[in-house]
Order: sequence, then C-alpha cells, then structure tokens
Amino acid sequence: MSKTWFETVAEAQRRAKKRLPKSVYSALVAGSEQGVTISDNTAAFGELGFAPHVAGLSATRELATTVMGQSISMPVVISPTGVQAVHPDGEVAVARAAAARGVAMGLSSFASKPVEDVTAVNPQTFFQMYWVGSREVLLQRMERARKAGAVGLIMTLDWSFSSGRDWGSPTIPEKVDLKAMVRMAPETLVRPRWLLEFAKTGILPDLTTPNLKAPGGVAPTFFTAYGEWMQTPLPTWEDVAWLRKQWGAPFMLKGVMRVDDAKRAVDAGVTAISVSNHGGNNLDGTPASIRALPAIAEAVGEQVEVLLDGGIRRGSDVVKALALGARAVLIGRAYLWGLAANGQAGVENVLDILRGGIDSAVLGLGHSSIHDLTHCDVVMPPGFTRDLGLNAAAQL
Ligand SMILES: Cc1cc2nc3c(=O)[nH]c(=O)nc-3n(C[C@H](O)[C@H](O)[C@H](O)COP(=O)(O)O)c2cc1C
Repeated sequence: MSKTWFETVAEAQRRAKKRLPKSVYSALVAGSEQGVTISDNTAAFGELGFAPHVAGLSATRELATTVMGQSISMPVVISPTGVQAVHPDGEVAVARAAAARGVAMGLSSFASKPVEDVTAVNPQTFFQMYWVGSREVLLQRMERARKAGAVGLIMTLDWSFSSGRDWGSPTIPEKVDLKAMVRMAPETLVRPRWLLEFAKTGILPDLTTPNLKAPGGVAPTFFTAYGEWMQTPLPTWEDVAWLRKQWGAPFMLKGVMRVDDAKRAVDAGVTAISVSNHGGNNLDGTPASIRALPAIAEAVGEQVEVLLDGGIRRGSDVVKALALGARAVLIGRAYLWGLAANGQAGVENVLDILRGGIDSAVLGLGHSSIHDLTHCDVVMPPGFTRDLGLNAAAQL
C-alpha cells in the first residue's frame, strides 16, 4: 500500500495539519465563536445509529443518483469553498478528482481558480454566488459562469459576518508580497512539503478571487472582495426569485435551516436547497444541519431536491442523511483535507473512502439501492431533531 494513501478522512485531516502552514490549516478548521455549531455538526452524526440486517443481503448496490439534472455516481457533491493556498492546483485538482469519480463540483466565487479552468476539467460544475455587488455586477459574474459552461447555480445566503473565534482567527495577509513572506516565514519554513509544491509551480498563492474580476479589470484580493460584500445591501426573497429567474437553469439555495425559509425558497422557484449552517462558520449556536433535515425534507421534499451539508466525514454519515430525507450531500472540509494531504489523488482518496462507506452501510442495512433508504434504517435518540421554523411555516 502506497504511503500517500490514507484510510479515513480523520487521517487526511491529520496529514493536512502536518503539511499546511498553521494559518492555512486553521482557516480550514474554522468554526465561528465558541465552535458550538461546528462541533454539533459532527457529534450529531455520532448520535444516530443503524438498524442492520444480517442475512439476505444484496450482492450489488446502486449508489448513483441525479442532482440538479446531473447524473452522479454516488450521492456526494463537492461543496463550494472560498479557501486559498491549500494546494497550487486548488479547485482545478478538486474538479479533476470529482470528474474522475463521477461527482459534481461546486465552485465558490471566492475560489482561487477561474471558473473557465474548472469547467474545462469537470463539465458538471455548479457555480456558487453570494449576494455581492449590484444586480448588474451579479449578472455579469453569472453570465461569465454560464459562458464557461456551468450547469447550475448555487446561491449561498447563510452569512452574517461573524468574525470572532475563541480559538483565534488565522492571520491572512492582504496580498503575498515580500513583507508578508518574511512575516509568514516562521510558519511556512517548517512546512517544506507545502512550500515545495508551490515552488515547483513557480507561483506563490496570491490570495485573489479571479471569479470576481470585472471585465478588463484585475482579480480583487480576498479582502477587497469581502469589503464589497459587506457594503452590499442584504438580499430579500424577491432578490432570490430574481436571480433564479435570470439564471433560468438548475438553481440551489444553500444555507437553509428553517422550514418556513425552505417554503419561501420553493416559492422563489429554486430547484434544490441545501440544509446547511455553513459548516459551523456562520451563526454559532445554530444546531447541526442533520437535526434540521427531517422536518425540512418532510415539508418540501416533494417539491424541490433537498440536500444536506455539514459534518460529513464518512460514507455512513451520507447514508444517515439519505435515510432522513436528503437526496445527496455536499462535502467541505473532507475534500479540503484530502487536497492538502495529496492533491488531486488525495481528493480521489476521500471520495473513494466515502463511496466504500456508503456501499458498506447500504449493504449492512439490507438494501440494493440508496433510493430504498428510509427513517427505519436509522436509530434516532429521543429529542434528536430540531423543527426550526415549523410553526412559522404553518402561518405562510
Ligand atoms: C474554509 C471554508 C470555506 C468555505 N467557503 C464557502 C464559500 O465560499 N461558499 C459557500 O457557499 N460555502 C463555503 N463554505 C461552506 C461549505 O460549502 C460547506 O457548507 C461546509 O464546509 C460543510 O461542512 P463540512 O466542512 O463539515 O463538510 C466554506 C467552508 C469552509 C470550511
């Protein structure tokens, strides 16, 4: 067995920690304020059990499905992450790995690689946008993604500019110039493999956001883009419906945690929602997304595709989410750790781990297809779910 192969996502995380400069690793781990939500995202999966069968199991299992019109080989999609400096090949390596494993790619508008380079290697790309800038600017960015071949749009709304972290936020320079390199030297020099990867390409991470570049302009730095976002008037449900209409193709609203918001998303005409709390990076104290899933799936699962993200570290987590009503899941940190550990091959490794785990759980539960999973496959402790916004939804 090669030394670069790893057995679990936990091992990928350990390797990412060893390999990345401290500030880059801590940006991945993130989690706002006290970290209540980020911890609950993973702990909640641990509270759920399985009700397995032992005989009469199926020799073959169907894992394929569709999300927003795309056929995928298993119910897993790459979640968009606006994170920089993990690996020189960045989102292009992730997109290649996803394509190699038959998985769709979500690309953040804050990503380090241009959408054209990503769609070129994975045609199943969904472009993700926040509500940043004027309607005119939003349309420009959206049309660029369409021209590049993006097959779906993800609008992420769950961001309320929380900034403090009890564990200490990483120091991210405005741009990587000589001054920044000298300041970061103590942490980068002790990570020679990371440095070598970048040195081989001859390019240092420049911390810019090429997908937010105005026509004929230069890519803004991460902080400039974030500043523009902070000054943009906050979006309304009419804005959501407007953007969906402008896109006119498969459209996902990411970050829904309440039944009333899920119903409003249906009214706005979305194709899909992701039940998500931004991986615990947003409003701390929001419950784990898996706790909110059952009520939302029950309320709108017949009308739109319901996905989930937050805390997926194993194939069995994916199976639990499907049993509780998700069509598929999105993964964030799991693939970022794989990317840090071993580039494209590391992301493929993570996807293989998830596939193996999904297959094993579906086998143990006595099914021949992921489409046969139900609540009965899962042992749920009393009080597990949180029906956020259920009463308010009844008034709509
Ligand atoms: C470092 C980092 C950056 C992220 N950036 C974005 C982003 O730009 N757009 C977005 O929609 N979600 C973003 N997310 C949230 C992820 O898409 C996803 O919701 C979350 O990571 C899922 O939780 P998990 O990491 O436990 O799988 C980010 C998450 C992380 C960890």
